[in-house]
Amino acid sequence: REEARTAGPLAGKKVVITAGGTVERIDPVRYITNDSSGKMGFALAEAARELGAEVVLIAGNTQILPPAGKGIELERVQSAQNMYDAVMSHFDASDIIIKAAAVADYRPAVQADRKIKKSGDTLTLELVKNIDILEQLGQRKTRQFLIGFAAETHDLEQYALDKLRRKNCDLIVANDVTSEGAGFGTDTNIVHIYDANGLVQDLPLLSKQHTARRILELAAQRLSGAQA
Ligand code: CTP
Ligand code: CA
Repeated sequence: REEARTAGPLAGKKVVITAGGTVERIDPVRYITNDSSGKMGFALAEAARELGAEVVLIAGNTQILPPAGKGIELERVQSAQNMYDAVMSHFDASDIIIKAAAVADYRPAVQADRKIKKSGDTLTLELVKNIDILEQLGQRKTRQFLIGFAAETHDLEQYALDKLRRKNCDLIVANDVTSEGAGFGTDTNIVHIYDANGLVQDLPLLSKQHTARRILELAAQRLSGAQA
């Protein structure tokens, strides 16, 4: 294990980041997931490391290669429940938690042990609601600085602020997935950052690396008590 870095605004801080989509099993050969690429979460992990943090990256489904070098501990998970367990195992020691993952809202009510065989002309899958990880974190947080994400197609500000309040986040990073350059899988993003008082920053079209850097710099300022 690498020692915590001594330089940078997040030196000595533990940052936990979730990335990618969760995978919800139907049977041993089939699953439900979503279009999240994991790029934003991986960029956040790199940016947090650059600012001196000790980073835990909890990743669901993503094609991105693990970050090279030291300072980022990568944990792979599948389901929302796995992700919840992984995040909770780091909760007490964490200073900043960033929920960039696209957590499946529902999972199959039954996960079959054996491959489901083809039979009738239709097949109905019953889905049940997953645990809301961010909401749980918001209820439990003590000193943890909590950053949520909101991917919206319409009424962005209203939904983002509603999520921030409902999940007791310190910041929420919202993007309009219908904008050119801001959707799932792109290398760029256009984000709007809100706190409980409303809009904090409107970032322009930036690479996910630069967007990540700006988010972490803002978090570092807030954590140190400075307003920005
Ligand atoms: N989130 C979570 N656990 C879930 C669902 C969402 O931790 N079961 C987190 C996401 O990681 C994200 C934030 O909550 O940081 C907002 O996710 P989003 O899907 O936009 O919000 P939902 O509350 O699921 O609402 P909806 O999908 O209806 O817009
Ligand atoms: Ca959702």
